[in-house]
Amino acid sequence: MANINWDKLGFDAYETNTVILSHYKDGKWSPIRRSDEFSFTFDPFAAVFHYATSCFEGMKAFRQKNGRACIFRPEENAKRMQRTADYLGLPAPTKEMFIKMSEECVKANIEFLPPYGHHASMYIRPLLIGMRPQMQLIPPTECVFAVMCAPAGSYYGENLSSFSAVIARNYDRAAPQGSGSYKVGANYPCSFKPYKMAHEQGYTEILYLNSATKQYIDEYGSSNFFAIKGNTYVTPLSDSVLPSITNKSLQQVAMDFGMTVEKRKVPVEELAEFDEAAACGTAVVITPMSHIDDKPTIEGKEVTKVYKFFQDGKVGPVCSKLYKTITGIQFGELPDTHGWCYMLPEGI
Ligand SMILES: Cc1ncc(COP(=O)(O)O)c(C=O)c1O
Repeated sequence: MANINWDKLGFDAYETNTVILSHYKDGKWSPIRRSDEFSFTFDPFAAVFHYATSCFEGMKAFRQKNGRACIFRPEENAKRMQRTADYLGLPAPTKEMFIKMSEECVKANIEFLPPYGHHASMYIRPLLIGMRPQMQLIPPTECVFAVMCAPAGSYYGENLSSFSAVIARNYDRAAPQGSGSYKVGANYPCSFKPYKMAHEQGYTEILYLNSATKQYIDEYGSSNFFAIKGNTYVTPLSDSVLPSITNKSLQQVAMDFGMTVEKRKVPVEELAEFDEAAACGTAVVITPMSHIDDKPTIEGKEVTKVYKFFQDGKVGPVCSKLYKTITGIQFGELPDTHGWCYMLPEGI
C-alpha cells in the first residue's frame, strides 16, 4: 500500500506505477502494453500538438465495504469515448479493450486504490490522441490509447456542503451543433480564463447558457446542471452538453425515489423557481449551489440577479439523499440494483 494520507487527497495528476497503452497503426491496435515510465515520446509534428486530436474519459474505481474493488459504469465511458472518437475521426478502442485496459490499470496500480472508509477513490483517465506526424488537415491514422490513474479525495466526505456559481453571459463553451456534447480536450481551455476570474471572485463554477440565444441553461464548465422542483428532477435537454454518466445515474436514482425526471429546455429565469440547484460529475458526484449569480460580464462588478438556494454551506435534502445513494452504491454500502459496479476479481 502506498504511503499516502488518504484523508488529505485532492484531485490532481499523480505519478503512480504504470500506464497501460496500445498503439493504432496500419489499421490495427497493438497488443496491450504496460509502461512503468511515466512519459511519452512524440514527434513534434504529431497531430495532437497542432490540431488538438485528443479526447479523454474520466471514471472511478472504489474499494468497497466488503473489500472488493470495482469500477463505476465503465461501459458507459467506453461508449462515450467511441462516440467522441467518431466525431474526431479517430479509431476508437473497442468496449472490451477499453474495459480491459481500465481494469489492468487499476490492478497495476492497486497500491494507490484508497482503502474503504476514507471517502476516497481512484480516478481513471483513459486518453486517446492522434500521434501521426502530419501537416495535412486530415484525421490522424496513428493514435495512442493510454489509461492512467490517480488516487483522488472526496471534497466532502460523508456530508455535502454548498458552493456558488456565476452565469457566463459574455463567454461561450460550445457552438450550436459544435463539439459541446463530446469529451474532446479542446472543449476545456476556453473556460480557463473565465474560471480564473470566477474563482478570484469566490465562485466555484461557471454556468454556461445556450450560445445562440442565451435563454436556456446548458451546463457548467466541467459538469452537468440539475435542479429540484418539488418532486421533480429537472436537467437541460441540449445538443451542446456532455451526456454525463453521473447525471444519468442520478436521474435513475431520482426515479427510484418516486420522483419525476424532466429533461427539457430550462430557461434561466426558472432558477427562481427551483428548491435546489447543483452541478454533477464523476469527480465529486454532486456540487450543490448555495446561490447562482447573473452578471452581464464575469469580469465586471455588476450583479443583475442572485438566485438563492441554501445559505451558510447548507444543502438541500434531495441533493443529500441523492449523494448518499450514489456514493453508497459505489462503496458497496447499498444494493447495486442496476448493476452499475463492474467488479474486479476477488483478491485484487
Ligand atoms: C463538460 C462536462 N460536463 C459534464 C461532466 C460530467 O460527466 P460525468 O458525470 O460522466 O463525469 C464532465 C466531466 O466529466 C464534463 O467535463
